[in-house]
Amino acid sequence: MQMYDLIQKTRRREPLTEEQIQWIVRGFCSGEIPDYMMSAWLMAVCCQGLTAAETAVLTLAMRDSGECLSMAPIGGVTVDKHSTGGIGDKTTLLLAPIAAACGGFVPKMSGRGLGFTGGTIDKLESIPGFCTSLQMEEFMRITKEVGCCVIAQSGNLVPADKKMYALRNLTATVDSIPLICASIMSKKLALGADCILLDVKFGHGAFMKTPEDAEHLAAAMVEVGKRAGRQCRAVLTDMNAPLGANIGNALEVLEVIRILRGEVRNDLSRLSLTLAAHMLSLSGRGTVEACYAQAQEALDSGKALEKFAAMTAAQGGDPRITEDPALLPQAAESYTAEAPENGYISSIQSEEVGLACLELGAGRTSSSSEIDYGAGVELHAFVGDAVQKGQPLFTVHGKTQELCRKAAARILQNIRITAEQPVPAPLLYKVIS
Ligand code: URA
Repeated sequence: MQMYDLIQKTRRREPLTEEQIQWIVRGFCSGEIPDYMMSAWLMAVCCQGLTAAETAVLTLAMRDSGECLSMAPIGGVTVDKHSTGGIGDKTTLLLAPIAAACGGFVPKMSGRGLGFTGGTIDKLESIPGFCTSLQMEEFMRITKEVGCCVIAQSGNLVPADKKMYALRNLTATVDSIPLICASIMSKKLALGADCILLDVKFGHGAFMKTPEDAEHLAAAMVEVGKRAGRQCRAVLTDMNAPLGANIGNALEVLEVIRILRGEVRNDLSRLSLTLAAHMLSLSGRGTVEACYAQAQEALDSGKALEKFAAMTAAQGGDPRITEDPALLPQAAESYTAEAPENGYISSIQSEEVGLACLELGAGRTSSSSEIDYGAGVELHAFVGDAVQKGQPLFTVHGKTQELCRKAAARILQNIRITAEQPVPAPLLYKVIS
């Protein structure tokens, strides 16, 4: 087989066989196919696409490039969730303990943040002592005993994706639905959960800018999940404004604790309940409506808070944060910005809020950057709210006043206040199953 011929076939939209795709993935992982040839093939995929069958074969070949786990030792139906990422998206921290409190099993591997979106692992690591790199036996034991456990991606899972993603990042080939689908689904399939819920976000603060693109990606991922024999469903959700009130690692954990304690109810709590309901229903626990009622009860009764504390303790973290959130890291300085005029908030550009948080030190600009866990933004007013001139709009937390004021100016420029009240967009746009 010649890589040259396969590049040309994909470039001409001639489908590759299963054997040819497996050969490409194996050859790239072993180093026999050099980066320049793989880059050319990735670019051909980016420009011409792959068929559904080719995408499924690519996903499975990538999955099989490393270790594949079995969740059988957990002894129950396991359910995983993936979000394509967004600003203030901390739903995993809520839905995992909510689903666990309803009897579900959620073994979850999550990522670190890079660029303007945060990573679940960084949020959890802002909890003093919380360990996200556990042995697989420990991961399974905690999931079985507590019902949920969240760890960082293991080094042995899907090495093909690590190598391919690094190349895609350098060659402008991240932005391809079959490649994103294969990258995400190979990792989900290698983890081995029985059911997979995909939260595909669209809008300013998301990978997919339009609902149409989000739907194409969601349909491709559900198709691959089904071909691989998993229960798989996708929900399309809005990411035009940040999710919830807080953005930044420890600030996001603080918001999660406030919701689990029943002190706050907002778009974040509603979306987390919806996602937990879909996860429970996928794993055979009733209709989505019945599972929503179970999830709501788990949240309102404090059972989900107990699960969050139990998971934190099991992973070495300090569970006292649920009683005394002041134990979480806090930034040295803060600055509160006020509304410059009367009106209604009609938009908050989430990508810009994410970039402001990155400048504050809440995220990474390279994989070796240090994170300031206390840095970030707390919104006090949301899209659709009426505001009066001088009313506090948001508070920025950071290392210095200079950093806080600079971030505040950037965010203020990206909050639109209008005379007309905007029509609220639904959080859940569509379900694809
Ligand atoms: N997230 C992934 O894991 N892979 C992609 O290709 C894009 C987003």
